[in-house]
Amino acid sequence: MHRRKIIAANWKMNKSISAAETFAREFSRRSDLADACDIVIIPPFFSVRPVADTLAGTQIHVGAQDLHWEASGAFTGEVSAAMLQDAGATYVIVGHSERRHLMGESDAVVAKKLAAALRASLIPILCVGETLAEREAGRQTGVVERQLTTAFEAVDERAAAPTVIAYEPVWAIGTGRTASAEDAVAMHRAIRDWMQTRFGETAAAVARIQYGGSVNPDNAAELLAREDIDGLLVGGASLDAGSFAAIAGAVPAA
Ligand code: PGA
Repeated sequence: MHRRKIIAANWKMNKSISAAETFAREFSRRSDLADACDIVIIPPFFSVRPVADTLAGTQIHVGAQDLHWEASGAFTGEVSAAMLQDAGATYVIVGHSERRHLMGESDAVVAKKLAAALRASLIPILCVGETLAEREAGRQTGVVERQLTTAFEAVDERAAAPTVIAYEPVWAIGTGRTASAEDAVAMHRAIRDWMQTRFGETAAAVARIQYGGSVNPDNAAELLAREDIDGLLVGGASLDAGSFAAIAGAVPAA
């Protein structure tokens, strides 16, 4: 089963609007990279529209970092799926570990956000991953399976299909400590097994599972060479257009 790799740039809370536009202009010169893989740029909310406008006419996609699960209403500070689409986003990150751990987002909240994204036909990038303490206690697979079970609780096979899953071990994010390709592959297989049990063989075979956590131009090729790793979610190393282009350029020819 060939799965097209997907390389996403999660800028987190970085870059002004003009810096975001500069990146998009520079990166649009490398829009040929999108021939070999799906590329998604995920800036802060304000820059979704300017980045989408700058990349219009290329095959490069734009996403957002979070959403609220309601369509509209009295939710001060929140942004809905429809608003993100209106701004030009086609992807949205759901349940990033920084939201889970720093903003107190529970598995149940993540589930509501996942359902809202799917309802709106935004492609969710659902993040899962264990902390260092959980890994040291040998609990990593159980933790990730619990996150998946709750996130997909109210979602059927057909609705779940577009979801991209990003395995991001919390101890590897922003620490310079990447999971070994073996550790990543082992977890990606466990996630695919979980998908098979929950949604069946076909759904599991087509599901794309990214790795994230201290990915950079030096380790991208080794990760992307593995059949079980369907792409990368890149934080720090995605802030520079040249570095992100080098990572996307490490996708092996199909
Ligand atoms: P990092 O972040 O590449 O800076 O480790 C990855 C992420 O959190 O998505």
